[in-house]
Amino acid sequence: MKEVLINQLPDLPFDVEESLNQLRINISFCGDGIKVIMITSSVPNEGKSFVAQNLWRMFAGLGMKTLLIDADLRNSEMRTKLDMHLKDGSKMQGVAYYLSGQCEMNDCLYQTNIENAFIIPTTTNVVNPIIMLEGERFGQMIEVSRKVFDYIIVDTPPLQSVADALTISRSCDGTVLTVRGGETPRKLVANSVQLLKRTEIPLLGVALNRVNKGSGGGKYYGRYYSKGYYYSSYGKDKNDSKKERQEKERKLK
Ligand SMILES: Nc1ncnc2c1ncn2[C@@H]1O[C@H](COP(=O)(O)OP(=O)(O)O)[C@@H](O)[C@H]1O
Ligand SMILES: [Mg+2]
Repeated sequence: MKEVLINQLPDLPFDVEESLNQLRINISFCGDGIKVIMITSSVPNEGKSFVAQNLWRMFAGLGMKTLLIDADLRNSEMRTKLDMHLKDGSKMQGVAYYLSGQCEMNDCLYQTNIENAFIIPTTTNVVNPIIMLEGERFGQMIEVSRKVFDYIIVDTPPLQSVADALTISRSCDGTVLTVRGGETPRKLVANSVQLLKRTEIPLLGVALNRVNKGSGGGKYYGRYYSKGYYYSSYGKDKNDSKKERQEKERKLK
C-alpha cells in the first residue's frame, strides 16, 4: 500500500480538542454497530471537513484503524488543505477513479504518515457524481472497508445543495451534522434535520462549530453537541443553569 504524507493537520487548542473529544466519546458509546460515520452540514464552509479530519486523527491516535473517505466529489479542498503528497512522488488516485472503474480499491486506498490513519482521497472534482455514488461500487467500497477498519469517516457535500449526502447515507451507520454557529439560519438546520430523519440511519450528534467565544479560542474554536447534550470545555456557557442549557438544546433541535 502506498503512503501519503499529510503535511498540514495541526494540533488544536486544548478547548477545541476537548470539545471534539466529547463528540468522539459519544460516537464510541453508540456501540459496535456504529462504524461508518457520515459528516455533513446544510451549506458549504460550516466545517464538515474540519470535523471529519479531526475525528479521524483522534480515533487513529487512540489506536483505532481509521479510514477517511473524502466523498465530497464536487468540491473537495482536502488534498490542498492537508497538503497531501504521495511519498514516492507519483500521482494520487481517488474515489472517482475507483467509482468509475478506472482503478481498484487498493490503488486509491493509502496509508498515511499518521499511525492508524488511512485515506481514500478525492483527487479530481466531478461535475455530477450522483450516478457514481448510486452505483454499486460505492457500497462495495464501504463493505470491504468495514472488514478492515475500526472506524470509517465519510466527508460529504452539503445537504441543501445536492442529494449526494443522502445517497451516501445508505451505506453509513450514522450522521454527524455540522452547524456553523451564528451563521447557519435555524430554519435551514431544522430542514437538514428533517432530511436526515428521512434516512434510515440515526443522527448521532450536532457539531456546533466555529462559535466565536471571544478571547482564548485563538484561530480554532467550536463547541459540540452530541445526542442532545451540550458540551463546552470552558467559558461562560459552562456556568449556565440546567434550564438555560436545556433551552439551548431545545433551540438546536
Ligand atoms: N473550528 C474551526 N476553527 C477554525 N477554523 C475552522 C474551524 N472549522 C472550520 N474551519 C476552517 O473553515 C474553512 C471551512 O471549513 P471546512 O471544514 O472546509 O468546511 P466544509 O467542509 O463544511 O465546507 C476551512 O478553512 C477550515 O479550516
Ligand atoms: Mg468540505
